[in-house]
Amino acid sequence: MTTTDRLAAEQQFHDRQAADRAGAFAAGRADLRFADADYLDHESWVRPAFLKLGDLAGKHVLDYGCGHGMAAVVLARAGAAVTAFDLSPGYVAEARLRLAANGVAGTCVVADGEVLPFPDAAFDAVWGNAVLHHLDLHKAGRELRRVLRPGGVAVFCEPWGGNPLLAVARRFLPYPGKDRTPDERPLTRRDLAPLRDLFAVEVEGHQLLGMARRVWPNGRVLQGLDAADRRLLRVCPPLWNWCRYVVVTLRAR
Ligand SMILES: C[S@@+](CC[C@H](N)C(=O)[O-])C[C@H]1O[C@@H](n2cnc3c(N)ncnc32)[C@H](O)[C@@H]1O
Repeated sequence: MTTTDRLAAEQQFHDRQAADRAGAFAAGRADLRFADADYLDHESWVRPAFLKLGDLAGKHVLDYGCGHGMAAVVLARAGAAVTAFDLSPGYVAEARLRLAANGVAGTCVVADGEVLPFPDAAFDAVWGNAVLHHLDLHKAGRELRRVLRPGGVAVFCEPWGGNPLLAVARRFLPYPGKDRTPDERPLTRRDLAPLRDLFAVEVEGHQLLGMARRVWPNGRVLQGLDAADRRLLRVCPPLWNWCRYVVVTLRAR
């Protein structure tokens, strides 16, 4: 598949999702307004990942592959000057409406993460959720390094592909939200290599036992599994490679 075909497939897939969502907002079945916790606690890695961005007041922050724009709103509420972009015009339209509905300002643009329309060193920080694994990281990494100021930080939450049992489960088990674009793949160590050439890279695993929530969403049991994960990953750090998701922190030297 050529780059053009890949980007077209990504855009169409996400525009279709955005159109379904727009229907739900128009019919009053969904609300664009939300509380920070609705986003920060929608998965167990989001809040700890957000904290890695540090104090955001007055900072220029990029929401990279913004999708619905919930992160853009949370960033703006934390005092950041937010720019949000996505390849999907449908999702960018939703992000704009969401910023307005929540009474915060931000700039939303349609753009490709592999060819960013922003000047060098334009941002103090970058946030991305579930986006890098859709991209060519040789291209996206160079663009990220270019737009991030020296000393800046980029934080991404991404599905991880280091666990062979999870790979089988992802392939064969039915679970909600399983729809995928043809080219997206959970990240692997090899995918991170181009980023290591450009940044100081930290990787933190999330949901080892806690990944059971995908098929068995029992709140009390999951609290126990999350607590067990925190202990296990502290005493045996290499286990992060078996986790469902990772938080990748890139520091521009
Ligand atoms: C799984 S969604 C995540 C969206 C959002 N970050 C979130 O937290 O829900 C992946 C997003 O990446 C966007 N995307 C895919 N390829 C892209 C590219 N080359 N440049 C910019 N955005 C892209 C898609 O349009 C989609 O909105």
